[in-house]
Amino acid sequence: MSQAAELSFNPWDLAFRANPYPFYRQLVAGRPRLIDLFGPTALIARFADVTAVLKDQQRFSSTQLRSPDMVAEGPFAGATTMLFADPPVHTRLRRLVSRDFTPRRIREMEPRIREIATKLLDDVERKGELDVMSDVANALPVMVIAEMLGIPSELNSQFKHWSDAVISGGTVLPGMPMPDDVRQATNELRGYLAEQVVLRRNQPGSDLISALVAAHDDGEALTAEELLAFAVLLLLAGNETTTNLIGNGMLALGLHPEQMDLLRRSPELMPRAIEETLRFDGPVQSTTRRALVDAEVGGIMIPAATACFIILAAANHDPAQFEDPDRFDITREAKDHVAFGDGIHFCIGAPLARLEGAIAIGTMLERFPRLRLKDPAAPLTYKGSYFLRGLAGLAMSIK
Ligand code: HEM
Repeated sequence: MSQAAELSFNPWDLAFRANPYPFYRQLVAGRPRLIDLFGPTALIARFADVTAVLKDQQRFSSTQLRSPDMVAEGPFAGATTMLFADPPVHTRLRRLVSRDFTPRRIREMEPRIREIATKLLDDVERKGELDVMSDVANALPVMVIAEMLGIPSELNSQFKHWSDAVISGGTVLPGMPMPDDVRQATNELRGYLAEQVVLRRNQPGSDLISALVAAHDDGEALTAEELLAFAVLLLLAGNETTTNLIGNGMLALGLHPEQMDLLRRSPELMPRAIEETLRFDGPVQSTTRRALVDAEVGGIMIPAATACFIILAAANHDPAQFEDPDRFDITREAKDHVAFGDGIHFCIGAPLARLEGAIAIGTMLERFPRLRLKDPAAPLTYKGSYFLRGLAGLAMSIK
């Protein structure tokens, strides 16, 4: 790989975002790179290096890379969340909700998720055309997570709007002001959730906000700020990611019609198809860590305080881990991928995301036997975030 290509890594560049995979192929061919991207930054991409860093919270911290001002302006208003915490704070926060996300608890939600998917596809059938993103993928996860939080369904589109705006704030370049609409959406979302917290304190239900209100850990309740941040985290982390699993999965199947046919003939392959989608075109391309000390990774010394891009989607295309990694193959022998991360921050919502993905994709295939991409050659448009990879729209023919 040439030095020029090495230095061209710019996750805010639209051309790069449209197809980052050729760049990843070059990255996984060598050791971690040290570059200057708003300050010293390490690009960690090989599977072995990525898993080593994700499992090493002694030397690599999850606390936010952004300046305290930007963190205070963000959706959590400076409060600590498990995603951006190290032990022991992370351990305490994660324990409070881990029982609500076990595969068994999530399986209980299957009939309700099927009902929501069926209703969405009834509307598609009436309309006679399908855009996977606007008709199914955008709607289903927000409906499910809002229901888990105990938010009334009338507010779904309002919730989706808040969530999209707040996520788009994550793409603002360091040092740039937060746009007014993002600021407004953040305030409205937090204001609404704060009201819900007060309501649940007086009248608890069986929802997650009530569970958080009631949560005590070693006799210590969540602070009001932590509680609010928790609810916002669940909404944000559970929403756009799963939307993009459904969208990226349908795109991969649409571009590989023989795989779609195979899945239709052998629906028992669905769990593998979901894992392959996560590996092949993951909704979370990269996460970040900060080196706490000088630390050697993959033969390179990463100086203390370096920001680290942990490029999950590159690791998932590392030929040292996956044979013929650029081939989309739903029969692939399940091997650990890192689309949900690794180590103590491994995605708590993975069972829910897998279930929603399987139901959404499965019901679309069942309902529309002639389903295919409307125009396989049409250019694709991706949404605004590099970290969260997802399509703006995906038109498919159903007749
Ligand atoms: C396909 C969908 C999803 C993908 C690809 C995904 C991916 C990830 C990844 C990569 C991490 C680890 C980040 C890191 O180590 O820095 C993570 C953490 C997390 N995810 Fe997900 N996620 C998905 C769906 C969900 C859902 C549905 C929820 C909840 C409803 C959720 C909630 C969380 C939370 C709370 C964390 C933080 C866990 C911790 O710090 O211990 N995610 N997710």
